[in-house]
Parts: sequence; structure tokens; C-alpha cells
Amino acid sequence: MRFNFFVILLTICLGSMIGKTQEPFKAEIDSILNLMTLEEKIGQLTLYTSGWDVTGPVLRENYLDDLRQGKVGNLFNAHTAAYNHNLQKIAVEETRLGIPLLFGYDVIHGYKTIFPISLAESASWDMDAIERSARIAAIEAAAGGLHWTFAPMVDIARDPRWGRVMEGAGEDTYLGSCIAKARVKGFQGSDLASNNTILACAKHFAAYGAAQAGRDYHTVDISENTLRDIYLPPFKAALDAGVATFMTSFNEYNGMPATGSKFLLQDVLRDDWKFDGFVVTDYTSINEMIPHGVAANLKHAANLAIQAGVDMDMQGAAYADYLEELVNENSVSISQIEGAVRQILKAKYQLGLFDDPYRYGDTLLEKNLILSNGHLDAARDMAKKSIVLLKNDNQTLPLKTSLRKIALIGPLANNQDNLLGAWAASGRASDCVSLLSGIQEVLNESQILFHPGCRINGEETDFSEAVSIASQADAIIVALGEERHMSGEAASRSSIGLPGSQLELVKTLSALDKPIIVVLMNGRPLAIPWLDQRVDAILETWFLGNMAGPAITDVLFGKYNPSGKLPITFPRNEGQIPIYYNMKNTGRPFNATDNYTSKYLDVANEPLYPFGFGLSYTSFRIENINIFDSVLTIYDDLVLTADLKNNGTVSGEEVVQLYITDKVGSLTRPVRELKGFKKIFLEPGQSEQIRFEIPIRSLGFHNAKMDYVVEEGAFDIHLGNSSTNTVTKSIIVQ
Ligand code: BGC
Repeated sequence: MRFNFFVILLTICLGSMIGKTQEPFKAEIDSILNLMTLEEKIGQLTLYTSGWDVTGPVLRENYLDDLRQGKVGNLFNAHTAAYNHNLQKIAVEETRLGIPLLFGYDVIHGYKTIFPISLAESASWDMDAIERSARIAAIEAAAGGLHWTFAPMVDIARDPRWGRVMEGAGEDTYLGSCIAKARVKGFQGSDLASNNTILACAKHFAAYGAAQAGRDYHTVDISENTLRDIYLPPFKAALDAGVATFMTSFNEYNGMPATGSKFLLQDVLRDDWKFDGFVVTDYTSINEMIPHGVAANLKHAANLAIQAGVDMDMQGAAYADYLEELVNENSVSISQIEGAVRQILKAKYQLGLFDDPYRYGDTLLEKNLILSNGHLDAARDMAKKSIVLLKNDNQTLPLKTSLRKIALIGPLANNQDNLLGAWAASGRASDCVSLLSGIQEVLNESQILFHPGCRINGEETDFSEAVSIASQADAIIVALGEERHMSGEAASRSSIGLPGSQLELVKTLSALDKPIIVVLMNGRPLAIPWLDQRVDAILETWFLGNMAGPAITDVLFGKYNPSGKLPITFPRNEGQIPIYYNMKNTGRPFNATDNYTSKYLDVANEPLYPFGFGLSYTSFRIENINIFDSVLTIYDDLVLTADLKNNGTVSGEEVVQLYITDKVGSLTRPVRELKGFKKIFLEPGQSEQIRFEIPIRSLGFHNAKMDYVVEEGAFDIHLGNSSTNTVTKSIIVQ
């Protein structure tokens, strides 16, 4: 007998009539499970890439045959309404049970309207804007036939050599947790059943960002305290925001690859956190347990993964090829398999796919929504907010549009493709507005002189043409940085200076003795001590997506006052790495008068630009800091008010940051930890009272027994506009 979708619907109705249970869609899922063969169940645990857009090795070229036989329940890297409709039609009309497919894709910072890379967005410290960016990405992706994004990536990244820093929220746990929540809310909206919300996926669980030496996929070896205090909280925040799925990471933790880690997937995720969605592997990460050296063969690896609690196998075909055998040998129970199938079917129900498998993917919406003016305006707004002003001597910026001539030099000045950044989903270079085009909108043609100067990663030595052009101008804007695939997956760098001959170019231009403004475009912190010393102004613009050119122009010419703050530390050189603001003090903190204290002989301990740092065209003052009650218990909130004043002549936004230091702990504590921030807009001369209410229970850490504790004693409270420029007060917790 050939079952189809309507048979399922009928069975569901009968099931529902028998009685509803608390578990969402339990009756419906039970009815389907009753109809499924073991092979079909395993099919639901299987995710293959379509041939269209590939982000790793393709193991199953013949995935369409598998699909027809009910042996694959989920596809990724397939998108657009029409393409996915056809694949869905195969699942619904040609398979025995007609269970709809789930379509996933890496929609990281936009689907087709490309927003700034995630690290850049994080520099905005603007949760509403970040949520809106994810919302728009979901709306476009859903119109393009997608149900599920492999985002947000919530890995803490303390090593700028690691290429995937571009994909996360930077180095800080608290900021990263706020951003994780905002992104999950943006992707999933308030109702997964709506056809413009998609499943989010917290990845990569866990500690992927701690890869040794910043080399992607490399070994991770961190303490459980560091794991629990630094790396896990953003995942917990995503879970608290209702994230529907988790992805395992490629790395090991404590000698076990995350994909086989019962500790991570069972003890932490299911038992402690009560996660009730499904867990997918990263790309072939079951298979990678063989080279990791914990599995003798793929069958062994599949067993480790299912025992650990992995529900879905991404691209590895390990479940497809070996789960049945493992069940037949009684190594894996049917209830284990069904537990995983339930989670996946539940997600399909939540999305409404059993009501209408084609409800996502709409060619008309695709046409009207994707790259709509509203979406591009939001991308431009997000891009402006993501820019960080790192240096601005003598108020070089903003530039006046009345300047006689401006030279725009550099390999990234008239470039569209790189603006997309890595992981740009289906974004197109042709939809990006270059910096040159952005500036052309505000200056007359006769005012702009342009020359690329050199390639991004070339070995040029002759810059004479660029110099001769620049010599005619009143100010020189130099657009420098990385090619977009120098960061992202498998894109670690051991030297993080400007690639190729770009530094030589700017050194040569500096001999002209004209104001030099460097516009950086890059996916990670760069080590740029020479620029910091010698050029007049530096704008960190990361990769800002489609509207990069207009957004940077807005900042260069003062239409927007930069408000971004670094979400990650910029080192002076690679030797300082790892370097992050919330380090421990050591027993010999640096003291210039004592040789035997912690230091380098050849470079300062301090970074070039600290976490939380970013300048503005105006100046702000924080005054009248008042702590309401400075003796508190763990049940209280720390209530602090302060006045923020805009002392300058232009309006702008400031990010006021609150850090704490736990003075004495049963274990050593970081020198400071971010616990709150507020982004405030003020007109010139305007002042506003800001108020923080920080739960004392959020000031804790995991002690030697791995219990989360807030210990009694003194805490310093630092308030300021970066992790280093702060005023300190103190409280007692008793
Ligand atoms: C990456 C994941 C990504 C997956 C699917 C992997 O290589 O690590 O972040 O979601 O590919 O494209």
C-alpha cells in the first residue's frame, strides 16, 4: 500500500481525537511513528546537502534517489522558492509517507540582503538593530523556501587568528549572550508557525572558538571552569530565548569530540538545561571522530554520536549507513531512534509543514521582499551602527563635502565582492555598493580622485601612480584590509597585519604629508601599530554588506556620528595572543618598577585597542555615579544611576558599560567582567540619567565543585565607555 500525506493527516485526526497530551504534537507524532519503517525513521535523522551550493565535501551525489525512498528527511544548501518547491514535491508526492522535507541553510548575516558580518553587527551593541537584522534575514530566507538557519554562531572567540571570529559576537560572554538572544528572537520571531519565521540553531556546541593557536578545527584544551563561565553562557542564553536546535562542534572537549560527548550533549544540554529541540552535527563531524582517534570506523562513530544524543547527521551518511545495523545488533534501541525522530518531526509540526508543506517559499514574496528598499535601509542603518572609529586626531573626521579634492586610494575602495564578507548566503557582489560609489553620491565627480594603489594580497613595490593622484588632493582616504575569504571557516592567519603590500602603500602615501584617513575592511582584529602611530584617522568598517559604501560615506562626511565599540580586543602584535580584557591577574601583575612581574621585553601588555573601545565625533561625560545600596545580598539587585552628558557640538550615541571585579574568590577571578551596558542617544549639551539594575546572582562563577556560586565579599563596580576607561565604586555582598 502506498501511504501519502492525506493518510497521515487522517491518522493524525484520529490520534488527536483520542486525547491531547502535554507534549506538543505528541499524538500526531505517535501516529506517524506507527506508520514508519526503521529505514524511514533513520531517513528523518539524515541531512544532505543539495548539489547546488556546497559548504563541504559531497558524499551523496545521488541524494534524490535517497529522497524518493524516504531515506532523507532534510536538505541543506538548497534554496529559492521554485527550487525547494520541486524538492518538496518529491518528498510529499513520491515518498511512501509524504513527510515534508526540512530545508536548512547558513543564513548568517542576511539571506540575499546582506547585512554586516556578525562580528561587525556586534560592534553596534544595539540589540534592537541586531534582532531586526536577523528578522529580515529570516523573512527573506523563508520567502526563499527555507525553514531553518544554521545560526546564530555563539562561539566566544578570544583569538583573532581564528577566521571564524567574523561569524560570532566577539570575545565577551555577557555581550555574546545578549546578542545570542537577540538573534534567536529575530530568526524565530514570536511564533514559529508563522510563515516568515525560521528555526534558529545555536552553534557550535561547544568551545569551538578555543581552537589552539587560532587554527580552525584544532584541538581545544580548556578547564571546565572556563567552559562553564566563558564558553557556555551564550548557548544557555540562546536556549532561554527558545532556540529550536543546536549544532555540535568539530572540536574535542576533554578528549572527546563534541559530537560524541555525553557530557556536553546529555549532561549539560538535556539534563541540566532541559533542551527540548533537536541536535544536528556539524558537517560530517560524526565521520571526523575517526581521525580524531576515538572511533575505529564509521559504524563505531555513528554509535558514539547516537549514544551521546545527536539527533541528526549532517552530510556524514553515518546514520544512514549504520544505524539499522546497530539497532539489529541491539547496540542502539528503537526508542533512542524514535526519541530523535520525535524531535525532528516536532520541528516540522511547529513550522506548520504538515498543514502545508509549501507554506515557506513564495515566488511573489521573493520578488517583492528580497532586496526591498525597506530591507536595504535596515542594512544601511545596521552598517552605520557597526562602524568603530579607532582614531581621529585633530578632528580629521568628519570630512567636509566642500573639500576641493579627495583622493580615494586602496584595493578595497572600488570593490563590491569583498563587502559581502564570508558566509554571505546567496548575497551577490553586484548588489553591494562600493565605497567609491557611496562617496560619488555626496561629492561631485571633479572632487574625487581614485586609484586602487595595489592588490589586497599582492607584492607591488611601485605606487607612483597612486602617489601622483593622491598628491593632488586635500585629504587621502585609503581603503585597506583583507579579502573576504581571509576570514570565515578554514581561514585562519598566523600574521594578522595588513596583507600584501598595503602597508607599504600607505607608508608611501604618508610621505605626502596630507591628512590620511584609513578605512579598514576586514573580518577579524588586525595588528596595525604603524597605522595607529602615523595616520590621522582610522575607521574600522569590517565587511558591512550590501550598503557598505553609503554607510561608510555617512560616517566619513558626518551624516552619522560613529557609535560602535569593539566587541573584541585588537592586539599590537600576534605575540600578545591570546589577549582579551577579562584575563586573570596572575600573582605577579605587571609593575614597571619590578622586573619580576608579568610582561614582555619587546611589547607592552596592553592591547592596541581594548574591548569596548570606540570614539565619537562628540564627547560624553559620565558623572554623579550613585549606588543606591552598597551592602547587598544575592537576592538583591545592584541599582546604580549616573548622568550621561553630551559635552560636544554634535548629537551622538554612547555605550555606557558596567564591569565588575570580584575582589577575592575561592578561585581566581577575571580582572573585570562586563555585566551590563546601555546605548544612549543625546543631542549636544543634553544630559540623561541612566539606570542599571544588575541582579547580584549574575555576578557569580563556577567554583571548584562546578557549582554556580556568588561568594560573599567586596566587588568593584566600574562604569565607563570602554573596558579600560572607567570610574570605580565598590559594594559588599553578604
Ligand atoms: C560549518 C557550519 C555550517 C555547516 C553547513 C560547516 O562546515 O562549520 O557552521 O553550518 O558547515 O554549511
